[in-house]
Amino acid sequence: LVVAVLFGGRSSEHSISCATAGGVLAAIDRDRYDVIPIGITVDGAFTLQPDDATVFALDPEALPSVPDNGTRVHWPASSVSRELTVTDAAGATRGLGDIDIVFPILHGPFGEDGTIQGLLELIGLPYVGAGVLASAVGMDKHFSKSVLQHSGIAVAPWRTVSAREWAASPDAVASAADALGWPVFVKPARAGSSVGVSRADSAADLPAAMAVALAEDSKVLIEARLVGREIECGVIGGRRGEAPRVSVAGEIIVRGAGFYDFTAKYLDAGGVDLVCPASLTPDELTEMQRLAALAFEAIGAAGLARVDFFLTDSGFVINELNTMPGFTPISMFPKCWMATGLSYPKLIDELIEIGLE
Ligand code: DAL
Ligand code: MG
Repeated sequence: LVVAVLFGGRSSEHSISCATAGGVLAAIDRDRYDVIPIGITVDGAFTLQPDDATVFALDPEALPSVPDNGTRVHWPASSVSRELTVTDAAGATRGLGDIDIVFPILHGPFGEDGTIQGLLELIGLPYVGAGVLASAVGMDKHFSKSVLQHSGIAVAPWRTVSAREWAASPDAVASAADALGWPVFVKPARAGSSVGVSRADSAADLPAAMAVALAEDSKVLIEARLVGREIECGVIGGRRGEAPRVSVAGEIIVRGAGFYDFTAKYLDAGGVDLVCPASLTPDELTEMQRLAALAFEAIGAAGLARVDFFLTDSGFVINELNTMPGFTPISMFPKCWMATGLSYPKLIDELIEIGLE
């Protein structure tokens, strides 16, 4: 099978997507798949990249990125063809063969948000992961929380604020935050990996926190802080219309006063422990798995997701759901599946096979 692996992209999670792709390129079963690595530059150019996992490995000293090597990959013009072509830096164009499936390992806007999925639907190429609507809902914290809440799943109380509202009435926004109770977390509606997220301990912290979040998106969420254990799990779609499958639980243990921010996630792994499987009672595990499957189906997801919870005194509360979770070999999504009995290469097989169904 010919798999086009898409990575990089225009979002602030460009480097994380490259690191995820590095993990997949290193582990994908070469006896089963021919891989075409397509890197999207930060400017949005689709380029043909070397099939070399080491180039894109996660290095905290120098986060990986897609260099613009001058090549340009062209999608089929319609669903009548599955052939990709590439123009090299000298201007010569050649075919790359017919694609069986696309693995869009992209995080954030223009990748995890339904846009690339829409392109692939239009040209009729099968792909791994959620479709247009579920990707768009999953990317947007305002809409995903609304959908989850409607399905009876507990989410952190929040208030959505537009750039216009903040500019016009910062005092009203501050009183809304006050009503949620300090501290609050201020987050861009459509971003990931904690980019643009900060904690505000009082109204005095709000302007800086809003500015950081508004640099990522014109819509921001102010959320009540959840107190509890940070528990996450992986979900993969069921085969042939069966129910989604949920992994065992993983737990994030943050040392010190900070939160699980971008630095703790990717730059300084010393500040955080990922424990998998997490120690939960059988009842807690069953409840987490029930809620994760419910959340997956509530947004209409397909393929894969990671569901992030806080286990509070009053039970599980969903923090968010990621339709293309981080997928480096040390990321929580594959770790949870490994602890459930699915190796990293087998997990990739499974995702491709579900995508082809
Ligand atoms: N957005 C990052 C990649 C995650 O959810 O793991
Ligand atoms: Mg996220």
